[in-house]
Amino acid sequence: MESTSRGTVYIETYGCQMNVSDAELMYGRLAEYGYQPVDQPDGADVILVNTCAIRDHAEQRVIGRLGELKRFMKPDTVLGVTGCMAQRLGPALLERAKHVDLVIGPDGYRALPSLIEGARAGERVARVDFDLEEHYEDFHARRFDGVRAWIPVQRGCDYKCTYCIVPMTRGPERSRRLADVVRETSEVAAHGITEVTLLGQTVNSYHDGEHDFADLLRAVGAVPGIRRVRFTSPHPNDFSDRVIAAMAETPTVCEHVHLPMQSGSSRTLKRMLRRYTREGYMECVARLRNAIPGLALTTDIIVGFPGETDEDFEETLSAVREVGFDDAFTFKFSPREGTPATRMPEHLMVPDDVASERLERLIAVIREGTRSRNLALLGTRHEVLVEKVSRRGTLLQGRTRHHRTVLIPGKESMIGEYHTVELTGTTGSTFTGAIVSARQALPMAG
Ligand code: SAH
Ligand code: SF4
Ligand code: F3S
Repeated sequence: MESTSRGTVYIETYGCQMNVSDAELMYGRLAEYGYQPVDQPDGADVILVNTCAIRDHAEQRVIGRLGELKRFMKPDTVLGVTGCMAQRLGPALLERAKHVDLVIGPDGYRALPSLIEGARAGERVARVDFDLEEHYEDFHARRFDGVRAWIPVQRGCDYKCTYCIVPMTRGPERSRRLADVVRETSEVAAHGITEVTLLGQTVNSYHDGEHDFADLLRAVGAVPGIRRVRFTSPHPNDFSDRVIAAMAETPTVCEHVHLPMQSGSSRTLKRMLRRYTREGYMECVARLRNAIPGLALTTDIIVGFPGETDEDFEETLSAVREVGFDDAFTFKFSPREGTPATRMPEHLMVPDDVASERLERLIAVIREGTRSRNLALLGTRHEVLVEKVSRRGTLLQGRTRHHRTVLIPGKESMIGEYHTVELTGTTGSTFTGAIVSARQALPMAG
């Protein structure tokens, strides 16, 4: 249905993979309506800023960026804000930024073409209703990566962690039908993509009414041509024995889990309403490691949550050491308007300098752990999928099944291939490696 050209569209995405995936859906939808994707805002007919609201810092960046984008706009350029910050602020954003024409939340992308047309006729609109049926099944995601694909399997979130804005920006949890996920996986495989990452806020709570996440892993993992299946982010409480068995028994499911811990203190976890204790988290780690030997674990941790004492923070440090995470994303608590954490008593708030100091100490402990584990891996051999030319441009960048980044020498034509690589050096966080034998990216038998 490629219709006459309506001009060019540029989408700038912030936040998580869910947003990256949504941008691919938006590009796909707009392409069907005659908009051509471009990779820079300068002179684009439509500019969309696809935003994140997870921390205040993320929103401030967008506010600053919206100002900057003015200089790339022609008199008739349509500027839209999409994603989580759009959902959170709604019409207030139109008030605040007069050069913004459209504000569209994550469930409103079906209306993009008509809203853009309206904006061209001078309308300024905020569209922020949730649509619990919306999975954009008939959209054709426009993917720019030929090696790996993000596959959304669930939208929204039914947990209510007290610090988190996501339930407010993405609405209630709903899952796509298993058959639709498998169909999309087959489509990307037909285009030569061999690695997929299943996306959801609590992805392992996936349930389409008939099938759970275990069924989904087995079904996606068996799609011909798919060699690696990843997923993010699971919740510790949703790792049923069925799901863990499916991970262990499906050869394409990679030996890496990103398992957000948030805190190592049961008191803090309770205040966060994470619905598990330190012991519960450790038990989950043990079950996963028993079923999947050599499993790599990464995590998310928040410091400075209201009420976090020095002892609570020490428990986070000790939990990090106890688990031995391969890596971690660390954040200073950021109060989000409307979330329960902002209503906690004033005296519980952790001063910024204390939170900053904790963050630094936590990062040091994580780095130290990552470094010693990585040094111990030198000399070992791994299957590496070559993903792209590295940022510095002289080496290729790939990943092991355990999600470790490896830089290897080679030609651009090797992108998408699998090679056995010996790890020869490490910066502490990433590796350099040497190819020990080459294998083509042949699809495996179903
Ligand atoms: N759904 C995912 C997390 C999505 S948000 C999950 O439950 O694991 C990604 C990470 O941002 C979270 O894991 C948390 O560590 C962090 N985060 C969320 N809200 C935050 C806030 N208000 N302040 C600081 N960090 C936050
Ligand atoms: Fe936010 Fe918690 Fe839902 Fe993750 S599980 S998106 S942290 S509310
Ligand atoms: Fe940000 Fe929304 Fe993702 S708040 S982290 S873009 S779900």
